[in-house]
Amino acid sequence: MGRFEGKVAVVTGAGAGIGKACALAIAREGCRVVVADIDGSAAIACTAQIASEAGHALALAMDIADAQAVAALFETAERQFGGVDLLVNNASAMHLTPRDRAILDLDLTVWDQTMATNLRGTLLCCREAIPRMIARGGGAIVNMSSCQGLSGDTALTSYAASKAAMNMLSGSLATQYGHVQIRCNAVAPGLIMTERLLAKLDERMQRHLRRHQLLPRVGRPEDVAALVAFLLSDDAAFITGQVVCIDGGMLAHVPTYADGGNSGGARPAGHTADAVTVPRG
Ligand SMILES: NC(=O)c1ccc[n+]([C@@H]2O[C@H](COP(=O)([O-])OP(=O)(O)OC[C@H]3O[C@@H](n4cnc5c(N)ncnc54)[C@H](O)[C@@H]3O)[C@@H](O)[C@H]2O)c1
Repeated sequence: MGRFEGKVAVVTGAGAGIGKACALAIAREGCRVVVADIDGSAAIACTAQIASEAGHALALAMDIADAQAVAALFETAERQFGGVDLLVNNASAMHLTPRDRAILDLDLTVWDQTMATNLRGTLLCCREAIPRMIARGGGAIVNMSSCQGLSGDTALTSYAASKAAMNMLSGSLATQYGHVQIRCNAVAPGLIMTERLLAKLDERMQRHLRRHQLLPRVGRPEDVAALVAFLLSDDAAFITGQVVCIDGGMLAHVPTYADGGNSGGARPAGHTADAVTVPRG
């Protein structure tokens, strides 16, 4: 028996990357999954993979920034699968990040669109999910945040602010609906090598990982999916309102690590982080 037998989940942005890994992971444990993505063909490809593994899924092309489309998503989940128990708010406006600059250089339309998708879109999905979860005696929500929402950067001003706000949205939801058995946690990944990012794993990014990440391998979508599945499951029945980092130690150390630490410039003997490996998925 999988941990999600009899459960229904909505996963947004599930056509690719981390969202797809989450949809596959919970479907493998018996969950029926509504695979929502702005890219309809990517959503269909994900449901086809789930079906090929004898799972149950439904693809829906939609934009989380569109309130009507979000309402239709949850109505479809209810009509087709009988309700909603689990929600993974994973979709983000990643296409805007190359234009998401420092505060004085920022195009305000990038700020507005980032907030409309990442933050307002997440809120819209939560508002549709909560009454349906209450009707089924409770539920669990995971909001896909980011390490960028926990520390400042030279760019990504809007993205970082949207993710920090999603952390607090998770806290508010956990506080307001814990009494009706709804849990909500945020997951904050570091650099995770999705297909989109793997294509960009150049020397600059490798150097960044070597300098700042404690574990000498890249993070994979499956690493995040395992954490999301745990937080959605009854194994995490007493965990709510948390922001859980999954970043290979990126935010766990003092900045001197990047320059060899306080041990006189050398990392400990046997330190193997001279190379970053890409494990097979
Ligand atoms: N990959 C990383 O290193 C990393 C790090 C920290 C946080 N995250 C977060 O993880 C989540 C997934 O990131 P990823 O790297 O897997 O991205 P990705 O680009 O590989 O996949 C994102 C998916 O979301 C879909 N999508 C985009 N906008 C949408 C919208 N408005 N409505 C519905 N679907 C939409 C895309 O079509 C795509 O299939 C995001 O919330 C991102 O902020 C990723």
